[in-house]
Amino acid sequence: MNIGLSKQYALTKRVTRLTENGFQAKVKGEIRRKGVPMDHADIDLSLIVAMTPERVIGLKGRLPWRMPSDLARFKKITTEIGVVVMGRKTFDSILARNGKPLSGRQHVVLTTNPALFTSHQGQVWYATSLEEVLATIGVLGGRACVIGGAEIYEMFISAGLVRKVYRTIVHAQGLAGDAFFPQFVREANKWRLADGVLRSRQHEKDEYESSFWTYEWM
Ligand SMILES: NC(=O)c1ccc[n+]([C@@H]2O[C@H](COP(=O)([O-])OP(=O)(O)OC[C@H]3O[C@@H](n4cnc5c(N)ncnc54)[C@H](OP(=O)(O)O)[C@@H]3O)[C@@H](O)[C@H]2O)c1
Repeated sequence: MNIGLSKQYALTKRVTRLTENGFQAKVKGEIRRKGVPMDHADIDLSLIVAMTPERVIGLKGRLPWRMPSDLARFKKITTEIGVVVMGRKTFDSILARNGKPLSGRQHVVLTTNPALFTSHQGQVWYATSLEEVLATIGVLGGRACVIGGAEIYEMFISAGLVRKVYRTIVHAQGLAGDAFFPQFVREANKWRLADGVLRSRQHEKDEYESSFWTYEWM
């Protein structure tokens, strides 16, 4: 990908505008010196989702289940990766639930209106396009996990950028939802099943049984 000098300049200006502390200032300096990453090959992108067999992922801006085992798995995987990419609505739902961003992780939030947002102590970056997301991930080390919601999953899957998928199936048949995981259109035979945990109740406080599958792009 070549995003061109004018876009690099615009990105640098955006980061300048959103910069409110030393860490982001340091990253801004790196963008100035090195330019933004130009190649998708530099980006190691995973995706994590919990969904019912009918692909439900959310209802009224929230997760429609109580699954402590899945939250623990989400925390472990995303903390190890270190950078999470999400849509503004998913970020809102995190703030509504926790009152703050996810600890120990850098957040890249897609929105059409970054001016509406305030900084969260150098933990949150706003991007208004896929290109800006990729540039920001590059500056943050090149590795990230897409955590939803439906619009953002769709964007990254259709762009063909995801190399690894962590998928939890929440075995809640017929559960109501208003946000759905998209159908994978990418060639099914190019995804290798790398790991799995068979259907079971994995935590005593889980509302439903679940199973867990990891797929890698070959
Ligand atoms: N089960 C799971 O694993 C899981 C994971 C995550 C989320 N969820 C659920 O999914 C639901 C939220 O998903 P959602 O699809 O409604 O929202 P979302 O994908 O989280 O966020 C959508 C927002 O992202 C921004 N956006 C989307 N495309 C953009 C683009 N091309 N450029 C710039 N900004 C863009 C827009 O923000 P602005 O409106 O600010 O412009 C848009 O309103 C919630 O119910 C949540 O609980 C479930």
